[in-house]
Amino acid sequence: MNVWVINGPNLGRLDLRDHSIYGDITFNTLKEFCIGKGKELGLDVEVKQSDSETEIIHWLHEAADKKIPIAFNPAAFTHYSYAIRDAVAMLKAPVIEVHLSNPLSREEFRHVSVVSGVVTGTIGGFGLLSYELALRALAAMVDKKS
Ligand code: DQA
Repeated sequence: MNVWVINGPNLGRLDLRDHSIYGDITFNTLKEFCIGKGKELGLDVEVKQSDSETEIIHWLHEAADKKIPIAFNPAAFTHYSYAIRDAVAMLKAPVIEVHLSNPLSREEFRHVSVVSGVVTGTIGGFGLLSYELALRALAAMVDKKS
């Protein structure tokens, strides 16, 4: 089963971001972690990252057409992109919103997620483990269906 892990803006530069919040990891660490966990779970994981809202929306359209399950970290778009929310609402397969940090314990502008209302579920605050938990949830859901 093919699963996409889509990451939004600035997650490609985790090496430069606040390590006290995001951990001492690079995007490559995250990518390899997800691919490895996917293998353990029998999932063929493809990890994508873009700083462009347009590119992410086009990936979401493609995922909707192909019914691909997604673990999605929209990064800062989480908090204000209605365009991304509308694209997520079109998805046919399960989609888990993922965050490395716990946005609810941070600045007030991060307390709002405009995508939470249209995802299957949300996981945040566990660093890389957030991604593993999302992949586990997707694997369990996909398994139930087949
Ligand atoms: C994030 C949280 C967002 O508020 C932030 O803009 C990010 C990363 C997270 O994974 O914790 O870029 O989505």
